[in-house]
Amino acid sequence: METQGKCTADAQRKHKKKESGFTGQIGFVMAAAGSAVGVGNLWRFPYLAAKDGGGLFIVIYLILALTFGFTLLTSDISVGRKTGMNSIRAYEAMSPKWKFLGIVTFLVPALIMTYYAVIGGWIARYVVVYLTGEGKAAASDEFFGAFITDPHQAVLYAVVFMLITAFVVFNGVEKGIEKCSSILMPVMLVMIVAIAIFALTLKNTDADGITRTGLQGLAVYLTPNFEGITIRRLMQILLDAMSQIFFSLSVSMGIMITYGSYIKKDVDINTAVHQIEFFDSGVALLAGLMIIPSIFVFDGIEGMKAGPSLMFVSLPKVFDSMHGLGRFVGLAFFLMAAFAALTSCVSVLETIVANCMEIFHLERRHATIGLTILYTCASVVVALGYSTFYIELPLPNGSVAQILDLMDYISNSFMMPFISFLSSILIGWVIGPDWIIEEVEYGGRKFGLKGLYRFMIRYIVPVMMFVLFLQSTGLLGS
Ligand code: PFF
Repeated sequence: METQGKCTADAQRKHKKKESGFTGQIGFVMAAAGSAVGVGNLWRFPYLAAKDGGGLFIVIYLILALTFGFTLLTSDISVGRKTGMNSIRAYEAMSPKWKFLGIVTFLVPALIMTYYAVIGGWIARYVVVYLTGEGKAAASDEFFGAFITDPHQAVLYAVVFMLITAFVVFNGVEKGIEKCSSILMPVMLVMIVAIAIFALTLKNTDADGITRTGLQGLAVYLTPNFEGITIRRLMQILLDAMSQIFFSLSVSMGIMITYGSYIKKDVDINTAVHQIEFFDSGVALLAGLMIIPSIFVFDGIEGMKAGPSLMFVSLPKVFDSMHGLGRFVGLAFFLMAAFAALTSCVSVLETIVANCMEIFHLERRHATIGLTILYTCASVVVALGYSTFYIELPLPNGSVAQILDLMDYISNSFMMPFISFLSSILIGWVIGPDWIIEEVEYGGRKFGLKGLYRFMIRYIVPVMMFVLFLQSTGLLGS
């Protein structure tokens, strides 16, 4: 069976016709890191760290990133480069019977794209807030709610963000995606380091006369908190960290397969995987370093429990408390978040465009225009999900969803563990891990952790993914 998959892939590779690709290792790493670093790192990671025991969550996350993250990322990129194809065709090339998995994988970005530009639009709105000096108004509890329930505003910002994304994708892999990421990613990194350092210098005395400093906030962030820890709770933290890794590294959704298909044979996949992980985990850690001390200084430990509203409700309050400086720090923060969201959104649209180009034999321009029209309409519907099309849908995991949450739940909580489970069976047991290892070692490259890779893909990934899938469906309790 191993040989059969390989032959099909080789045969298909001869026919592949790639219009362009990344210029080299750095271009690829920037673009892949651009996809990985997004709202997940800036908002979701700090919020989970605050909820799940600070340093304890961080240690668990890093261990999982170096084992699971490494395995899933190596698999996706290698599948992409070896087959030279996008998810639907790539899985078919690996084993014709598994084409369905390629189709399911393709559905993830197809669903994510319906709402990612809407979130990008929210961030863009806050960039405008700090540009025009509306920071005080944004610090009120009602501001965010009033914005997303205003049909005109919510739609306007979502559409603008969608069109900027489409512009980058329209310009192609090298001149659009690589160029955009290579400029925005370093700028974003400098900004996040600067804001994190600034957050550590903060100090505030509240109405009760209690003074809190940024350094104390740092201790809250990094110190492992074992209070009330039980096996069940540890399991929950583990699962939180696991699902965060998926989302954060953009794996198991065909994105890294598509980006992998654009890299040349002289790129060292093993090194690239480590670089992408380093970038992604580094930005997540820095985001926590920036957000947790800021919230702690102005709102104390209680403030950090805000959860999802942390970024759009709590942070504007923090910026407002900084008086004159807040406007600049707020602008820097949301501008950086907008860059991170744009490079991620680009990777989602690119994956859909690339699959459609391959399947329907379309030119990039035509595929991009057609899909932009389709997804602009979808974004409008999702953006109106808080006003005109408001729904309250109970989910199996116990939460109540609007349209956006529903799309997010189906794609991330439900489909991604399912896809990783099946692809670890395909790679680990049907075609064999050597199919991937061969690609990583192509041209005499070193793959030091291949023993770990083999073990993870065959035994650990399938089991953990199955547990994660059960948890997301509510079968395991949440
Ligand atoms: N990896 C991105 C983040 O951490 O925010 C999120 C993301 C990008 C998710 C692209 C999904 C996606 F298709």
